[in-house]
Amino acid sequence: MIYTHNLMKIFLDTADLNEIRAANETGLIDGVTTNPTLILRSGRTLPDVAKQLVEEFPHFESISTEVVADTAEEMIEQAQQYINIGPAITIKLPCTVEGLKACRALNREGIKTNVTLIFSAAQAVLAAKAGATYVSPFIGRLDDQSVAGLEVVRSISELYRIYGVQTKVLSASIRSVQRAVRSWYNGAEVVTMPPNIFWQMYDHILTRDGLDKFQQDWDAAKLEL
Ligand code: E4P
Repeated sequence: MIYTHNLMKIFLDTADLNEIRAANETGLIDGVTTNPTLILRSGRTLPDVAKQLVEEFPHFESISTEVVADTAEEMIEQAQQYINIGPAITIKLPCTVEGLKACRALNREGIKTNVTLIFSAAQAVLAAKAGATYVSPFIGRLDDQSVAGLEVVRSISELYRIYGVQTKVLSASIRSVQRAVRSWYNGAEVVTMPPNIFWQMYDHILTRDGLDKFQQDWDAAKLEL
């Protein structure tokens, strides 16, 4: 039997296709999140990026495309540009009155949603009631304000567990491997991280030192035995 563990999911928080291709080679990536800042940085349009991601990575469970508008109607209208690109497309909406109205409407149409810019359990309750597929608490930005981002993840996960809420906790704004790991530990199902944090997850000085020593001894053994 082939065993792969797929409960602690890893999304990449980037719109850089080369970075996504490189990380995807490992077979350990489950999806992508983008935001307007990341799209600007990529130098490409969002529909372009979304189309290419759907085409190249059909196994991704979710590809977040963010709408930017003031009213629910405008958000839903913008969402129409992305929805038909593929089943992984997930409409990213802000945790505002209008954003959550749009979330409810899209959810009724069976469209995946990711309610973003979540900074409290109260906001996560509202997003869950609006039928969000994912909620994205921003750990790093909370930490910047001297609020423990991981505690917010823990409160949301615990609340959702108590009430059997289906909405998935997607820990975002990740700036270190430690924050990623503690997010899963605190109940997040998904962590979205910049590619450099993904690569750092492999790294440990004792692994490097251990490999150096094994290499030396292997070479010595080849000479002696
Ligand atoms: C999440 O979906 C956002 O794109 C992202 O994690 C924000 O991270 P930042 O606070 O590092 O900009």
